[in-house]
Amino acid sequence: MATGQSVLLIIGGGVAAYKSLLLIRLLKTAGIGVRVVLTRGGAQFVTPLSVGALSGEKVFTDLFDLTDEAEMGHIQLSRAADLVVAAPATADLMARMAAGMADDLATTLLLATDKDVLIAPAMNVRMWEHAATQANLATLRARGVAVVGPDAGDMACGEYGPGRMAEPEAIMAAIRTALAGTPRDLAGRRIVVTSGPTHEPIDPVRYIANRSSGKQGQAIAAALAARGAEVVLVSGPVGLDPPPGVETRGVGTAREMLAATLAALPADAVVCAAAVADYRVADAADQKLKKADGAGRTLTLVENPDILATVSTLPGGERPRLVVGFAAETQDVLAYAGAKRTRKGCDWIVANDVSQGVFGGDDNRVTLIDAQGSEDWPKMGKDAVAAKLAERIATALS
Ligand code: CTP
Repeated sequence: MATGQSVLLIIGGGVAAYKSLLLIRLLKTAGIGVRVVLTRGGAQFVTPLSVGALSGEKVFTDLFDLTDEAEMGHIQLSRAADLVVAAPATADLMARMAAGMADDLATTLLLATDKDVLIAPAMNVRMWEHAATQANLATLRARGVAVVGPDAGDMACGEYGPGRMAEPEAIMAAIRTALAGTPRDLAGRRIVVTSGPTHEPIDPVRYIANRSSGKQGQAIAAALAARGAEVVLVSGPVGLDPPPGVETRGVGTAREMLAATLAALPADAVVCAAAVADYRVADAADQKLKKADGAGRTLTLVENPDILATVSTLPGGERPRLVVGFAAETQDVLAYAGAKRTRKGCDWIVANDVSQGVFGGDDNRVTLIDAQGSEDWPKMGKDAVAAKLAERIATALS
């Protein structure tokens, strides 16, 4: 059954192009129209004939095909669809998008479109991890381009790591999200998010920290902003660019994070996603500590203030309506996390099992716990966890 929606699918030149044939079928089955542009590289991997047979539409391949231009100008082609999807998006295509080039039909359409753009990157792991590709990715994200994948795994080139194009079903889910559009139901709400680790100095050159990457907290800040909230992100030291559309306040220690969080109030909600160091060194040294031969060294630790508990127990009018904490556990996740919710006085706890590769990774599997009970969410990307949490927060504040 036709939805009346349509996608312009750009198939770039990568081995993963064969998966895009399956994506065309999924789109058709879902009643979403699909018109395909094959780049010159893409046409090396899949043929216009198979693409045309699956999509049931003319396949566009060359910017300077005058017959095409007479039937439908390239500007119109870029705007007739509800969403532009590039899958596979190669390193080269991403670079040309980031640079704003328009030297073939695909890049011309991407530059001329007024519609949302979703890319599914696919490339060799080293190309993906190269600073140039990561910089292009950051540029595209900052411009609002949505990104699905890549996945980690065995690659056609024989290497292992991130770079495999997301599976067609995952791209399909991202397309559905993009087509649904994000409601601006948090417009007028102010939300504070803590994120990242804290660094507790031992001396001027050393500190105590943890493995938090800040990815989950930043994704939450971005998802809340996407729904129209005014977001203040209080972030410990992380190696990520601040998310667009969010006011980021960088801090170092737990005590600085507490001060910055309280200074950002009043707010409708506070989400404490930071992995705050529980302890700091009682007397951090002013000068670099020197080794005393064979003597060993004992550091005295004192407990840091608890930001989540402090915010949760603010007096009546000052307490945000909704306070959300995280509980990173390695065992008895539900029991520990439930107890943490009551002890700290927050409304919700997002519990996750961090015993396997959550820190620094892109996926998360969480359980949302409130006063009524708990709800397991399937394993999904940190962006998807953030989007789902933002939706729940919007409902709770409405
Ligand atoms: N948290 C906080 N300030 C602290 C410690 C934790 O705001 N000083 C917040 C975290 O941001 C998170 C929640 O409390 O939302 C739980 O953090 P976690 O490290 O799991 O709990 P802890 O209180 O440190 O308990 P424990 O280490 O005993 O598990």
